[in-house]
Amino acid sequence: MNMRIIAQLAAGAALIALAAGSAKAAEEVEVLHWWTAGGEAAALNVLKENLAKEGVSWKDMPVAGGSGVQAMTALRARVTSGDPPTAVQMLGFDIRDWAEQGVVGNLDDLAEKQGWGKVIPEALQAFSKYDGHWIAAPVNVHSTNWLWLNKAAFDKAGGKEPANIDELIALLDKFKEQGLTPLAHGGQPWQDGTLWESVVLSTGGMDFYKKAVIDLDPAALSGDQMKKVFDTMTKLRTYFDPNFSGRDWNLSTALVIEGKAGAQQMGDWSKGEWLRANKKPGTDFVCMRFPGTQGNVLFNADQFVMFDVGDAKRDAQMKLASAVEDPAFQIAFNTVKGSVPARTDVPGDQFDDCGKKGIKDVADAAKAGTLVGSLAHGYAQPGAIKEAVFDVITQHLNGQIDTATALKRLPEAVAAAK
Ligand code: BGC
Repeated sequence: MNMRIIAQLAAGAALIALAAGSAKAAEEVEVLHWWTAGGEAAALNVLKENLAKEGVSWKDMPVAGGSGVQAMTALRARVTSGDPPTAVQMLGFDIRDWAEQGVVGNLDDLAEKQGWGKVIPEALQAFSKYDGHWIAAPVNVHSTNWLWLNKAAFDKAGGKEPANIDELIALLDKFKEQGLTPLAHGGQPWQDGTLWESVVLSTGGMDFYKKAVIDLDPAALSGDQMKKVFDTMTKLRTYFDPNFSGRDWNLSTALVIEGKAGAQQMGDWSKGEWLRANKKPGTDFVCMRFPGTQGNVLFNADQFVMFDVGDAKRDAQMKLASAVEDPAFQIAFNTVKGSVPARTDVPGDQFDDCGKKGIKDVADAAKAGTLVGSLAHGYAQPGAIKEAVFDVITQHLNGQIDTATALKRLPEAVAAAK
């Protein structure tokens, strides 16, 4: 081989290397999400860092607003303009809606290679797959029927976990005597709905939740049992502070962390805020199932829906999906986020006591048939019905309509939204 050919070959090889290098450097995922609270952002950082190690850079598209209300509006604008992000944090029926539009990608090859079908619970797969094809990578399992207590205030109040609504009310009275806001609640429709569904479950048990919220039985939506639910909401309202209206969920969590409030009813993303404030379960705070709901789990699961972004961006997109289902990531992320792993084969030994309880509760409930979708977080009904129920709950909680009117309106609003 003469020197000229060798030089040409070397130059060619250098060009190829350069091209490969720049292709690698250009790999990027754009992710739309609503994880903007301290604990949420800390959890998401785990994913950003893992992808960076694989040479994939992260273009952040955060849209603040609990439970993703505003994020879904932002998404619509992006998809309508023909430029969807690589992946979008999404819940339940919203995932189906986008799949029906024919704008999502396909994860079948990766899911098959990594055996997702064997380790992701059926209840999640029902939303991660559409028409038999994987379209989303589930990140976690959260659940909504939790109560979070300030440990010092709780100890002062006797330290006995309330077993039902009456005992909860007695505990809230004791918090009041201590000069605290008994129940830290943020008045936003999705938060009102999150409280309401725990009260539904506690008041009537899982059969009633299924009849009212899953089957949308008009008699269950307007009968005596539902009257008890709305009466309980009216009573709980008396334990809020005057500034509750419109307050973000994490600011309510902060009130409990700072010892200004005694308790918060909220999903287990609340734990992320406690951990972020360097607080420990069992020492600084107590996690328990909402009184009267032990044995039942109202789940919501964050999933990254992969949009159809074309071949050029597909490799990075698959790296993201693969990183999400990596068992080590499932541990690193969920121990910070407050959720439990989306995979059933991930060991729980690195989780704190609340996390261990969460993992056990979800597994037990799955076996017992009491792992059921949360209405407030999109896993029980399509968006239109969810919103219709929120309207009634929020108006009632704010005293705009009385219980009799709420009972009349609830089945009507649901029927109109169907
Ligand atoms: C999501 C959580 C999130 C919470 C508050 C829920 O719907 O599943 O991941 O932390 O909303 O924004």
